[in-house]
Amino acid sequence: MKKISRTALSTVALLIAALVTITNAAEHVFPKEALPTASGYLRIKEKPGALMFYTYYEAIEPALQLSERPIVLWLQGGPGCSGLLGNLYELGPWRVAQDLRLHKNSAPWNRIFGLLFLDNPIGSGFSVAPTDQDIPSNQEEIAKDLYSALQAFYHLNPLFKSRPFFVTGESYAGKYVPSLAYYMLQKVEKGGSLRIDGAAIGNGLTHPVVQVQSHASVAYAVGLIDYQQKLYLESLQQEAVTLTTQHKWNDARIARNRALRWLGNTTALASLYDIRRTIPYNSFDNGTDYLGLFVNQRAVKEALNANPNVTWVDCSDAVDVRMREDIMKSTKCMVESILLKIPVLLYQGQFDLRDGVVSTEDWMRTLLWNDLADFWRAERKVWRVSNVQAGYVRSYSNLTHVVVARAGHFVPTDQNLHSQAMIESWVAKSLATSAVN
Ligand SMILES: *[C@@H]1O[C@H](CO)[C@@H](O)[C@H](O)[C@H]1NC(C)=O
Ligand SMILES: *[C@@H]1O[C@H](CO)[C@@H](O)[C@H](O)[C@H]1NC(C)=O
Ligand SMILES: *[C@@H]1O[C@H](CO)[C@@H](O)[C@H](O)[C@H]1NC(C)=O
Ligand SMILES: *[C@@H]1O[C@H](CO)[C@@H](O)[C@H](O)[C@H]1NC(C)=O
Repeated sequence: MKKISRTALSTVALLIAALVTITNAAEHVFPKEALPTASGYLRIKEKPGALMFYTYYEAIEPALQLSERPIVLWLQGGPGCSGLLGNLYELGPWRVAQDLRLHKNSAPWNRIFGLLFLDNPIGSGFSVAPTDQDIPSNQEEIAKDLYSALQAFYHLNPLFKSRPFFVTGESYAGKYVPSLAYYMLQKVEKGGSLRIDGAAIGNGLTHPVVQVQSHASVAYAVGLIDYQQKLYLESLQQEAVTLTTQHKWNDARIARNRALRWLGNTTALASLYDIRRTIPYNSFDNGTDYLGLFVNQRAVKEALNANPNVTWVDCSDAVDVRMREDIMKSTKCMVESILLKIPVLLYQGQFDLRDGVVSTEDWMRTLLWNDLADFWRAERKVWRVSNVQAGYVRSYSNLTHVVVARAGHFVPTDQNLHSQAMIESWVAKSLATSAVN
């Protein structure tokens, strides 16, 4: 037998030491207990080479046996923002802070539910679009890709198929949630095997032609602009409306951006997403984003089973470009359709100047839905969580509207406990009855 040399032995020792250091470093950046239950890539079978990145967290304190335990899907907005924003900054079980460390969320959305995050559409976050042409440019394509990714997810976890399934999301997901729910319900009618039990939108953009008209009156009402400025902003908003009704989708998008940019510049707010903020969300005090610094560490990508060669960005420019013609298009008719079949929750943080309460109520008033008059006749109740005023709720038939107090655009970030109570009681169909006057 060949004698192992002293140098070889010390090399091995060094290698082991290095490995231990790397492991400890990885553990330091991403503690084991913070790891998702599963994560990686789901194949979009209709698009060779296309992969949708996901993270999945099983319930921490399951109240029901697996086959009955709901699964909540979360979709990020943008268009083109990564689901890791929701996961690591808003509603996931561990969240990144300015110190670039993960901190346990005292009230995540996976307390009693399974929680699935997707980097949607492909081209966002760690999701792979083989070419830019593979990135969806409309809601139907988005719904089809999402459906395909969900099929791949259930293929990995066949026992999950019986679990109640809720589609949720925020901001531009105000488009994705209705279009995916609508698509899934169509599939159900044709005998498809994936179930859907409800749809929830937080601070959403769903019916832009109405929503773009709300900014001036809201900003004026809270003293951010004066009467003259209100008239000017209304004229900018009207340009977006006119172009939308002419179906000049890209020009309408540009006009809306002009109005929002003018509002941001004129008010000098740190963020239109929350009029109270002095720095934007997920930023250092100097205003630069910190989430990217965390996610782009090799140990983080490896912990998440993401391709370490990919540079993660919070929101993808390529997706934004592909979706330009979609921005001002409405998915209100899909909300009208799904309301006939499943419960819908629309909730907004009160201090959002982009996709806030008035913006949402204004388009809700235009819903073509038989129960709408009765919905508005229903009492708007004070919503309390553990005796604390948490906001307001109105619910009738399949529609529930919640205003979340002391929150901006990113409701779970600003009010983790109340947002958790909201989603849990809505899924349990007890949100409206839990409110007292
Ligand atoms: C931003 O606002 C300042 C005044 O506060 C004004 O001078 C400037 O022209 C504005 N810029 C844009 C792009 O609207
Ligand atoms: C902002 O602050 C962070 C953290 O203190 C620092 O790493 C970064 O370089 C700063 N960026 C700018 C543009 O000042
Ligand atoms: C990352 O890049 C390295 C070097 O180019 C390559 O060997 C490896 O296969 C890549 N990994 C993935 C997952 O693409
Ligand atoms: C509400 O949804 C249920 C399913 O949860 C459905 O059976 C019912 O028809 C819907 N109600 C209305 C008034 O659309």
